[in-house]
Amino acid sequence: MHIALLGRQPELSIAELERVFTKVSWFSPQTALIDTDEAIDIQKLGGSQKIGRVILEVDSTEWRHVSGALVKHYAKIWSVAAGKITLGLSAYDFKLSPRELQKSGLILKSKLKSGGVSLRLVPNQEVALSTATSHHNKLGLSDNKVELLIIRGKNSTIIAESIGAQNITALAARDQGRPRRDAFVGMLPPKLAQIMINLAGPLAADPTQDLAQPRVLDPFCGTGVLLQEAMLMGYDVYGTDLSEKMIRYSRENLNWLQDKYQLTGHWYLHEGDATDTKWQQPIAAVVTETYLGQPFSAPPSSAKLTEVRGNCNHIIGGFLKNLSKQLKPGTPVVLAVPAWKDKSDNFTHLPLTTKIEDYGFKRMTLTTVDADRLMYFRPDQVVARELLLLTVK
Ligand SMILES: C[S@@+](CC[C@H](N)C(=O)[O-])C[C@H]1O[C@@H](n2cnc3c(N)ncnc32)[C@H](O)[C@@H]1O
Repeated sequence: MHIALLGRQPELSIAELERVFTKVSWFSPQTALIDTDEAIDIQKLGGSQKIGRVILEVDSTEWRHVSGALVKHYAKIWSVAAGKITLGLSAYDFKLSPRELQKSGLILKSKLKSGGVSLRLVPNQEVALSTATSHHNKLGLSDNKVELLIIRGKNSTIIAESIGAQNITALAARDQGRPRRDAFVGMLPPKLAQIMINLAGPLAADPTQDLAQPRVLDPFCGTGVLLQEAMLMGYDVYGTDLSEKMIRYSRENLNWLQDKYQLTGHWYLHEGDATDTKWQQPIAAVVTETYLGQPFSAPPSSAKLTEVRGNCNHIIGGFLKNLSKQLKPGTPVVLAVPAWKDKSDNFTHLPLTTKIEDYGFKRMTLTTVDADRLMYFRPDQVVARELLLLTVK
């Protein structure tokens, strides 16, 4: 059993986990249990901040009980440890000061010391170590560098050993290091790209084709963020875009990525209008951030909103009709489409979102969340992204 500390939009994060691991459930509003003992690579999950292997479930939500159980368990386990142990402690959903948390660590340290085992405690500025601190101390990456995630649920507390934290520095370096960026077409955050690719589910290559890996199509590829992340996740990729310039930018970016990360996957790009292009097979999944309309820094007038929404609905609707007739039934299609947020945080959605069947698609269903209104946005954004999780009928 594993437990994941979910990201800023926990519903999206848990949806991602469910699509990848199937047996997933909520433990608390910010965490999810993953019923697998297989190795998990957190760097391929855009929506999880940290993941740990569950070690203990304490039948209490009171810190003194939890602390007692933790000290008892690790004083025993580590009494025979070879070499120095580095320990980081991160507590979630407890009313606790960093000092009180460190105190538990110090009690453990002194118990171990009397048996000749030395322990270095990572200082806590906060009750939970930042992912950057976890990374810096390489916690979770070897047997003697441990971060304990102590997570309070409704009736019990889970103590888990972290297997790693999201490497934000690497994500940022990848995002900012790309030779071509374009602020005007808007840039998909790499984490969201990872989430979307995972929402398509585990993909299989077409056995009749001799391409090595399943191939992911992005028909609005822009500068190629999604294609990049899909390649890093081991997929072959296929991008098309209306703009010649964007195809050129994607080509430069993918060449750079392939060199930098020594990737062996295949990629293929060409110009094309998503409403009438004929794509080449094989296509294992379609994952794309579609045209989002013009950017807004303040909510538009209702006349303007009607115009932009109509325009986007026309393009994306035309794209969906063109796409569904080219794909095999069951092919997963994950789209980010625009939705507009007003000052009271109400969303205006695209008309096509309530008529998906008319375009030749079905909605995926999930057990952990309502998959019909998954939104990704920042508080200050007017144009939010709504994620549509579909399969071809
Ligand atoms: C929101 S951007 C996608 C950005 C991309 N995800 C990225 O991170 O760079 C939308 C892209 O759709 C393209 N586009 C607009 N209308 C299109 C159409 N009818 N067919 C294909 N591409 C189109 C634009 O050229 C633009 O690159």
